[in-house]
Amino acid sequence: MTERIAVRPAVSEDYEEFRALFARALMFDLPAGNDVGRALFEPERALVATDGDEIIGTTRALTRDLSVPGAVVPAAHVTGVGVRATHRRRGVMSELITRQLREVPEAIAVLWASESDIYGRFGYGPAAWGVSYEVDLHRVGPPDVRVRPGEFGLLAAADAVEQLAPLLKRLQERRPGVSGRSELGWQQQLQDEPESRGGKTSRQIVVHRDETGAVDGYALWRGKMNWEPVGPSNEVSVEEVVAIEPAAYRALWHYLLTLDLAAKLEYGHAAVDEPLLQLVTTPTALNRRVSESLWVRVTDVPRALAQRRYAAPVDLVFEVTDDLIPANAGRFRLTADGPSTPAKCHQTDDPADLTLSVRDLGAIYLGGRPLTEFAATGRVTEHRPEALTTATTAFTWPTPPVSIEIF
Ligand SMILES: CC(C)(COP(=O)(O)OP(=O)(O)OC[C@H]1O[C@@H](n2cnc3c(N)ncnc32)[C@H](O)[C@@H]1OP(=O)(O)O)[C@@H](O)C(=O)NCCC(=O)NCCS
Repeated sequence: MTERIAVRPAVSEDYEEFRALFARALMFDLPAGNDVGRALFEPERALVATDGDEIIGTTRALTRDLSVPGAVVPAAHVTGVGVRATHRRRGVMSELITRQLREVPEAIAVLWASESDIYGRFGYGPAAWGVSYEVDLHRVGPPDVRVRPGEFGLLAAADAVEQLAPLLKRLQERRPGVSGRSELGWQQQLQDEPESRGGKTSRQIVVHRDETGAVDGYALWRGKMNWEPVGPSNEVSVEEVVAIEPAAYRALWHYLLTLDLAAKLEYGHAAVDEPLLQLVTTPTALNRRVSESLWVRVTDVPRALAQRRYAAPVDLVFEVTDDLIPANAGRFRLTADGPSTPAKCHQTDDPADLTLSVRDLGAIYLGGRPLTEFAATGRVTEHRPEALTTATTAFTWPTPPVSIEIF
């Protein structure tokens, strides 16, 4: 980049320095590195910027899959983006992210952004909303505590992966935006170092069992004791709820909303259409807040568009603008018959029906945001009548995306 600052792929020996830099950039103390974290590092997919011998900037991509409308596809999971405060605002991140985007083999890259302002300039679009709750358990009108809603069990982390992993895969089949986890990824997710608990209890892994005894849903949660002068006011912090059957969903939320001594429940990964709204009598007591969760960057337009499904037939030419990846800039014909058959997409010289940026293509990619939203501010141009309606209907998916894990 300059005489002193250079960018290179990481090597496995960079692991500790890489982690330390990222932790310092985000202002938290990392627990000591461990074998699982090291095994997941993928140095060949990480980039570091160096000033002399020192690492001053980092980014990495994790090899994981992601559910998208009608499919589960490879997606570069970008994380660890940090630049040492002494070297900020000199273009280090720009160099790292641009090179990363040009090199990733997957047709899409995804990330969670620390700040909304950062990644749009690189063609990432916010594709999923995250809903967080701060539930006032005294007001929300939880289900009757005298009713036993189902059969539950508690699992130890060591026994959990085998039982929970199939449920996450089932969730991926029905919801876009859900990241898959390898065996090692699960082990990392279920690590529970005391120094990372933020004053809360150890994690509880509660499962729901159907009438045959099979596990059909789980919740990961922690508690925090809090006694006020007037009595107990404990807090429940829910990390993850995955339920495959309606009975499991109802039972697990019944369990969480009625825990003894608790006055407040926090949950950060609800969907915009979270069915929990139907199970409480006072939805305003959920204290809902909406923010961006998963950002999507399309790195290979024809491949990305062909690998998802469409809710309705479509045959349109999209003109895409992209300042960073030249092969993405051009016109592409997308054809699909509907959700049950694969789509096709290829470059074309035919006139465009719609023009949009790669950023807005990323924002609509998971089916959670209508294209009309972007046309309303002039960011999408319609060249043929009905093209906007056809594209919006085809891209929008009946189940909105949700990302349940900040990676
Ligand atoms: C965010 C961070 C990686 C940026 O690194 P950097 O090397 O300073 O970024 P660059 O110099 O390449 O900046 C590129 C552009 O992004 C803008 N930008 C950088 N950080 C920004 C921020 N936090 N908010 C808004 N804009 C930001 C810059 O102003 C610059 O804009 P310009 O091109 O219009 O001049 C770095 O400040 C950092 O480590 N922050 C703390 C950790 C963090 O938030 N990491 C992201 C995790 S998702």
